[in-house]
Amino acid sequence: MAQEDKKRAAAEAALAYVEPGSIVGVGSGSTVNCFIDALAGIKHKIEGAVAGSNASAERLKAHGIAVLDLNNAGDLPVCIDGADEATSNKHLIKGGGAALTREKIIAAASRKFVCIVDDSKIVNTLGKFPLPVEVIPMARSYVARKLTALGGNPAWRQGVITDNGNVILDVHNLKIVDAAALETEINQIVGVVTNGLFARRPADVVLIASDQGVKSLP
Ligand code: 5RP
Repeated sequence: MAQEDKKRAAAEAALAYVEPGSIVGVGSGSTVNCFIDALAGIKHKIEGAVAGSNASAERLKAHGIAVLDLNNAGDLPVCIDGADEATSNKHLIKGGGAALTREKIIAAASRKFVCIVDDSKIVNTLGKFPLPVEVIPMARSYVARKLTALGGNPAWRQGVITDNGNVILDVHNLKIVDAAALETEINQIVGVVTNGLFARRPADVVLIASDQGVKSLP
């Protein structure tokens, strides 16, 4: 099965987690785009969505799905999002699309976080995918030095400004032994908005699409 078909299969499986009459948290990325397209088929059954990026908001609106402000939505029953890497204990790296901060806020405000991936995203240990860190622009060099002191090799993602007006450092070669501890440590660096480790609030469900179909991590 082509990767595009796997993304679509995982996205369609996630529809089963959408609660009728609810507001759905929606992340960002190509797999989430498949989910938004699938959600359009049941849009009459939901109140609307909170979007993890401006791009997702535009796609939701193009389908006629109401996009709501999280400040008016309260806690969400469920959010659906993709990932760049996922482990068997449902820890993730996210932020390949630079939307990590809004995605992390939505995950924090959701009672259930359903992550949708194709099988290429499953890893034993996080960190082959460079860890995205969203940084306030004036702190870029300072934060880069601190990330280097942690053993990583940060690279400024050229030409990218996040939806929040910040920059992204992609940190290569990090040894991620304790993902939750590293998530906290990086977030303590002044000037960091957040980093792409989702371990303190991992996914609750990971739906993995492969040639054998879609299965949920135990
Ligand atoms: C965006 C993300 C995405 O969920 C992640 O990059 C996966 O994207 P895709 O589904 O396109 O592979 O974290 O910030």
